[in-house]
Amino acid sequence: MTIRATVTGVGHYLPDRLVPNSEFEATLDTTDEWIRERTGIERRHFAAPGQTTSDMGARAALAALAMAGREPGDVDAIIVATSTPDLTFPSAATMVQKAIGMTGGFAFDVQAVCAGFVYALTTANALMLAGQAKRVLVIGAETFSKILDWTDRTTCVLFGDGAGAMLLEIEEGDGSARDRGILATDLHSDGSFKDLLYVDGGISTGAPGVLKMEGREVFRHAVAKLAQTAEAALEQAGLSGADVDWIVPHQANLRIIKATAQKMGVPMERVVVTVQDHGNTSAASIPLALSVGVGRGQIKRGDLLVMEAIGGGLAWGSVVLRW
Ligand code: ACO
Repeated sequence: MTIRATVTGVGHYLPDRLVPNSEFEATLDTTDEWIRERTGIERRHFAAPGQTTSDMGARAALAALAMAGREPGDVDAIIVATSTPDLTFPSAATMVQKAIGMTGGFAFDVQAVCAGFVYALTTANALMLAGQAKRVLVIGAETFSKILDWTDRTTCVLFGDGAGAMLLEIEEGDGSARDRGILATDLHSDGSFKDLLYVDGGISTGAPGVLKMEGREVFRHAVAKLAQTAEAALEQAGLSGADVDWIVPHQANLRIIKATAQKMGVPMERVVVTVQDHGNTSAASIPLALSVGVGRGQIKRGDLLVMEAIGGGLAWGSVVLRW
């Protein structure tokens, strides 16, 4: 008998304000055509001025619990992947805990920028396999609109706000790759690439700062590293690209998504794509795409999924999971 962390619910939340590319044409030297062609992004949602990461995370969490038919009191732990928590501390996760009315268990944040959800899933899996928790809510939630430089056309058109959540529960398997649940995980980081993608503020500067990115260089690393990590996780599970039903990639740029799928030998018909509607929502992008993919009827019970992401750090990784 093998214990597996298995998905029983998924949900998402997008803030009301929907911003098409054309809105940037009024204030920046950019066009809808450039943004679509270079990134695949058509629109994104932005949080209302007072709306926070934990508020969106809590709404996504309640949707995931509703799908699983569980109450907040059934949950042992909450992990929120975010780089845009409401405050320096306490964690966004403890704020979600309060917002959903969960009074027991434990909650904490994981910060690995766009790779955050993959890191949080790996952490949840490890806690569950170690017997520390039987039911874990894993949430990706971000308000990148709060850390964008609205005068920098090379970054501000790329990002959006939102939240996605997943409930993981312990189930028994037979130890084979036919089991439902998390089958393999693969994480990496390399702090020497800090200057490619960072926020120029925080505790040391006294102001939150704005996002800075060497887009072309991040793009180059993304294409090389994403297929590598996905293939490593698949190999760990005794599987290959041919076994994959769905790649659920971090949604940063359609060209990166296509290049990664091509390297893995997986056709685009088997890739969940939401970047056109959400932009890059950093740690929220994979659970948002999962929730939308389930809603569209794409992802079905028993499907083999590979999630892969890269972001600031650089930090990157992947998770292989049977739905
Ligand atoms: N509108 C019009 N022109 C623009 C815009 C814009 N919004 N942005 C840049 N340009 C211009 C540039 O100034 C440049 O002009 P120049 O040739 O006169 O200097 C030209 O377009 C080409 O710029 P590149 O940077 O070479 O364009 P590229 O094709 O690389 O696309 C992009 C840029 C979209 C940023 C791409 O590099 C990318 O997606 N990079 C990866 C981003 C990513 O994956 N991030 C994930 C992690 S995010 C995280 O962790 C928070």
